[in-house]
Amino acid sequence: MRPDTAGRSVPYDEADLLRRARAVRSRAYAPYSHFHVGAVVVTPTGTYEGVNVENASYRMTTCAEQTAIARMIAEGDRGPIIAVAVVGDGADPCTPCGACRQTIFEFGPDATVYASGDGGNPLIARISELLPHGFGPHRLAQGQR
Ligand code: THU
Repeated sequence: MRPDTAGRSVPYDEADLLRRARAVRSRAYAPYSHFHVGAVVVTPTGTYEGVNVENASYRMTTCAEQTAIARMIAEGDRGPIIAVAVVGDGADPCTPCGACRQTIFEFGPDATVYASGDGGNPLIARISELLPHGFGPHRLAQGQR
């Protein structure tokens, strides 16, 4: 365990996660937006990298976080996600879009998100702060019989 920059004791190296997200960003396929994003998802047993993958039919775009989570599932890891690092182009933190917040919440309702750009300090927040009152698997189960 070691401290992150928010002072939490965590079983990963925040700076290393952000470095990896920044490095993998260079593989993003973003010929339309020219906005490149890299993400790393952390579970108790593994880490998974992803990039955004755009499409000429713009709405088919997949975000970096989604790609990383799809890799996690394809590798047989169901989480829970304990941390996500996201790095996008530009100075400001690249906070996950609404759809990505929902996907992170599905597999990591207690996950910590480290969002960064190329300047300044990362924004650090729990997914429950980014997606308050989130709808997830536990709530759905209440309605099923
Ligand atoms: N993007 C991500 O990959 N993750 C986010 O959380 C924000 C947005 C991508 C989608 C699209 O390829 C580009 O950034 C511009 O929206």
